[in-house]
Amino acid sequence: MAEVKGSILVADDEESVRNLIRRVLTKMDYAVETACNGEEVLAQIKKQAFDLLIMDIRMPKLDGMEAFKALRIDYPSLPIIMITAYSTVETTLETMRLGAFDYLTKPFDVSEVKMAVEKVFSSCLENADLQDAPVKAPNRHIKAFVGSSPLMQEVFKTIGRVSASDSSVLVQGESGTGKELVARTIHQYSNRKNKPFVTVNCGAIPEGILESEFFGHEKGAFTGAHQQKIGKLELADGGTIFLDEIGEMSPSLQVKLLRALQEREFERVGGNEKIVVDVRIIAATNKNLRQSIQDKSFRADLFYRLNVVSILIPPLRERKEDIPLLAAYFRDKFCGKLGIEPKTISKEVLNVLQAYDWPGNVRELENMLEHALVMSKGRVILVEDLPEEVLSSQKAYGTETGTKQETLRSMVKSLEKEVIAQTLQKTGGNKLQTAKLLDISRRALQYKIEEYGLENRENSYEQE
Ligand SMILES: Nc1ncnc2c1ncn2[C@@H]1O[C@H](COP(=O)(O)OP(=O)(O)OP(=O)(O)O)[C@@H](O)[C@H]1O
Ligand SMILES: [Mg+2]
Repeated sequence: MAEVKGSILVADDEESVRNLIRRVLTKMDYAVETACNGEEVLAQIKKQAFDLLIMDIRMPKLDGMEAFKALRIDYPSLPIIMITAYSTVETTLETMRLGAFDYLTKPFDVSEVKMAVEKVFSSCLENADLQDAPVKAPNRHIKAFVGSSPLMQEVFKTIGRVSASDSSVLVQGESGTGKELVARTIHQYSNRKNKPFVTVNCGAIPEGILESEFFGHEKGAFTGAHQQKIGKLELADGGTIFLDEIGEMSPSLQVKLLRALQEREFERVGGNEKIVVDVRIIAATNKNLRQSIQDKSFRADLFYRLNVVSILIPPLRERKEDIPLLAAYFRDKFCGKLGIEPKTISKEVLNVLQAYDWPGNVRELENMLEHALVMSKGRVILVEDLPEEVLSSQKAYGTETGTKQETLRSMVKSLEKEVIAQTLQKTGGNKLQTAKLLDISRRALQYKIEEYGLENRENSYEQE
């Protein structure tokens, strides 16, 4: 028999799930024990040391979440992978914030479990600095973040992971994808949540004014400086500063910002006094900053300072599964705001929304829903209530009969399938390398592999 690679405790109230995971992990040469509720988990862990715990959230007696919280205190360095059939954005964020190693949604793919377990045993470093982070209940009154696509699930996990730390975060994504919402959510889930969240829009403010916006100024520092002004960096003390459109910041201000970040102190414009602040930085941009570095319009050293953790929000057209959820969310929001009775979104409208490309991303969808609600007369939102631009783009593709659009979409899909298949072949089936070559996340690749049935034999355990 091969050497045992480590010991794993698997907790789930469903016997079939326990057995499936046990079978897979035993085959991978792990020693596996099982438990069927949270109390059993705590009892077993007291008796024996495990290298990893895989635990369901909903279980009788003591549920997984409660057991998880207890374990975080007594065994802060035990890696835990949580699984659930009832995934919400909140539980994802919360579990990752509390320091779970990973979070899987049922029904899961066996390859996902294998991947997550391998990650735990290959590097326990990833969340090492989060393990002893103080635990605090999150603020429930945050703006809702909606999304169920695998791509957004990854974004939520990263938000949860980083919120407990003070690392700088760079949020990248097209206009309207939710960069500011990500920044606010990180702040709301952090220990700084009761301190200020201050926004500076680096694109909208002229260079000279931006400097004093940022660092403040002393009375008489320049013509027109009649009074001392406290800058945003100082106002954000103890909290988070959100540097929006960081790609627009002028080179000279980039130098000053970098200095302030490195030395953790600065002076107000025209002043000598050193000001020390404790501020967490989240920056956002819809520019490709690596390109800007090559063009010499953005400093590489500042980029690396800001980009300690990077969050890339995919455009809406790459996660169309989220459209129905988002549409329903905005409908409810506006019905509430306008004080009107809840309306239904017709199936045809959903089809149109699904086929549209969303250059303005979630913001465009939000605006469109508001428009449609105002226009609709009955209890159902109809295609004719949608604004002209969505409809005309439909007509351009000839979707009135629905045929051409299908063809276009299926053409794009078959091209995508072929490119992925070829790249997989080129890399000898190496998914990480394939994802890198295609410039998509590994998770997105996995998703597409499944969608197109490109999985090779060794990886498809579920057939056994
Ligand atoms: N996943 C989501 N769930 C709910 N609301 C969302 C989501 N994504 C974006 N929104 C909403 O869409 C709008 C646009 O989001 P936000 O302002 O964060 O985008 P942005 O990326 O900062 O855009 P820009 O680059 O134009 O500044 C906001 O009203 C935001 O609350
Ligand atoms: Mg924004």
